[in-house]
Amino acid sequence: MYDFKIAAADTATLYSDLASALEGLVSGEPDPIANMANAAALIWESLPDLNWAGFYRNLGGELVLGPFQGRPACIRIKFGSGVCGTAASTLQPQRVQDVNAFPGHIACDSASASELVVPIVRDGQLLAVLDLDSPHTGRFTEEDEAGCVRLAEILARVLRDASSTGSAAPQDER
Ligand code: SME
Repeated sequence: MYDFKIAAADTATLYSDLASALEGLVSGEPDPIANMANAAALIWESLPDLNWAGFYRNLGGELVLGPFQGRPACIRIKFGSGVCGTAASTLQPQRVQDVNAFPGHIACDSASASELVVPIVRDGQLLAVLDLDSPHTGRFTEEDEAGCVRLAEILARVLRDASSTGSAAPQDER
């Protein structure tokens, strides 16, 4: 088990520590599901006030539920639909202070009040979206968005084609 003990005093340091931990977790591991699973667990353990943290993968132009932490969630989301589908179709992060005010928001869990969705893009292609939900309105700040964009950039380098189910052996032994 990895134990990163990320509990920074300020948000910038928190995301910096989180980015370093994520780099360490995914380096040398080619399997996209393993990397998304560890990323979801790391984010869930490190960021306060979340009720869901995880991924939807781009499988042939449809978002399909990937590794996550939290309650069971909607499995398939069309591009352009809800917060995740909007992030997928625009390739832009979506930071929603009040999900009830977002047209078409998909309420997988009625406890969710605010949401941050960041697309994971490589060479202009959407691989997946990172989705964070909070039970508190206005939970996500610009700093959260910038921090999660940085995490998405790290993942974009290792996820490659998230629809791939095969995985070669890791590049190094751990
Ligand atoms: N609320 C999202 C759906 C995914 S769940 O939050 C896990 C949306 O509107 O796209």
